[in-house]
Amino acid sequence: MSRGAHLHFSKTKDLPRPNHYVQALLGEYSAWAYDEDRALELRGQWRSRAFSVADDSPLDLEIGTGNGYHFAHYAKVHPERCLLGIELKYKPLIQSIRRAVSAGCTNAHMVRYNAALLPQLFQEGELDRVIIHFPDPWEKLRQQKHRLIQPAFMEQLYRLQKPQAFVEFKTDSRDYFDWALGVFEASPYSLEAQTFDLHQSPYAEQNFVTHFERIFLRKGQPIHYALLRKPC
Ligand SMILES: C[S@@+](CC[C@H](N)C(=O)[O-])C[C@H]1O[C@@H](n2cnc3c(N)ncnc32)[C@H](O)[C@@H]1O
Repeated sequence: MSRGAHLHFSKTKDLPRPNHYVQALLGEYSAWAYDEDRALELRGQWRSRAFSVADDSPLDLEIGTGNGYHFAHYAKVHPERCLLGIELKYKPLIQSIRRAVSAGCTNAHMVRYNAALLPQLFQEGELDRVIIHFPDPWEKLRQQKHRLIQPAFMEQLYRLQKPQAFVEFKTDSRDYFDWALGVFEASPYSLEAQTFDLHQSPYAEQNFVTHFERIFLRKGQPIHYALLRKPC
């Protein structure tokens, strides 16, 4: 992975003036949400130490939860699965965990971390499903190095997932989707499904419309979707 400046991010404990959301992460929601230092201690032990479940329980990861509509919905409809959300920004992090906790979910936790650095948080084979909905598109040519979907990222993610686990990817950006398809096809994953117009496809029936997705749908933009699977 390239070692660009985007891979470095400031830690919560170094913030000079913690705002309301930072204080909520460190206080009110500290049983459900982890700052960087606490998250690093859980590497390889998320199931037993964060979720208090057996080692064979499914552990899914949602990257970039935004305001958490999908995060809370997914946790609610899958009480048998553990869901960890990862966010860089404090406001969406707290919105996500607040929404899940308010919905009565006990299987959803959040972590404040940079998703480009997942091997720092997880051991090989620790993750089941991974969900990536509307990652920041970084559309200008000089910004593309900041995109989450990169060959090295996908190879790392592949190692962190269990065999048969999937990655669900959605974006409104045709440019990002074309880029991502190229990366997916060169990766060890099987590309199980893809469409340039999710809402005119058979996959629409199972789809949950996220906050960002609703904004793009209202503008009449097609949503691009891909499902990858790690083979046995
Ligand atoms: C465009 S929003 C999409 C939110 C949500 N998934 C949805 O569909 O409504 C992207 C989210 O990813 C988060 N994000 C961007 N880069 C990230 C990174 N490297 N690690 C963790 N979160 C990131 C942003 O803070 C933002 O909340």
